[in-house]
Amino acid sequence: MHRIAPSILSADFARLGDEVRDVLAAGADWIHFDVMDNHYVPNLTFGPMVCQALKKHAVKPDGTPAPIDVHLMVSPVDALAQAFCKAGADLVSFHPDASAHVDRTLQLIRAEGCRTGLAFNPAEPLDVLEWVIERVDLILIMSVNPGFGGQSFIDSALRKIERARKLIDASGRDIRLEVDGGIKADNIRRVADAGADTFVAGSAIFNAPDYARVIDAMRTALGAPR
Ligand code: DX5
Ligand code: ZN
Repeated sequence: MHRIAPSILSADFARLGDEVRDVLAAGADWIHFDVMDNHYVPNLTFGPMVCQALKKHAVKPDGTPAPIDVHLMVSPVDALAQAFCKAGADLVSFHPDASAHVDRTLQLIRAEGCRTGLAFNPAEPLDVLEWVIERVDLILIMSVNPGFGGQSFIDSALRKIERARKLIDASGRDIRLEVDGGIKADNIRRVADAGADTFVAGSAIFNAPDYARVIDAMRTALGAPR
């Protein structure tokens, strides 16, 4: 099943609670929460307190909670990963090159009751997965260099998505394959055909006047209109 995860990086920060409710009312599945520390990436966003404050707004129109998908672009990772789990995150993804001990960080996140994700930059190989795939619930393929919304999709991500899909299928495990960066209604189908099942989109949704229209166009492109 496909999931659409709007990144609130491109939302109006002065009205984040309403933005979260509005995008879920428009048909989003998850809320993607981009955490940047001005160290691992050259930008600064929000921390666990903002996540906690938004938790009560992350509710779908039928009253069910929407998963909060935290994407950590921070180094070091461990303390913030734990803080986000305590602040209501459902999934916590981090970049393997940002953690001194990837296996330990994955264990810490699971011990807090959250699902784990590993995020791979455009020039990063998937090699670590050979050793830790049983501790991973989501693989996040970056199709831009992390740090900013509104960048263009890097085509080499498609080959990496195909490779990650093979690894997931070979593992026989239930692992989500998420893609982040430059996703729009007009390229989402190619990304899905390469094997992705979860799609982050920031500027494509939040910079549009009608969020439902964009999300519906994405679902139509995926072949599953709402
Ligand atoms: C980039 C972030 C992305 C970003 C995506 O560092 O991880 O989630 O917000 O934004 P768009 O969809 O605008 O490329
Ligand atoms: Zn992200």
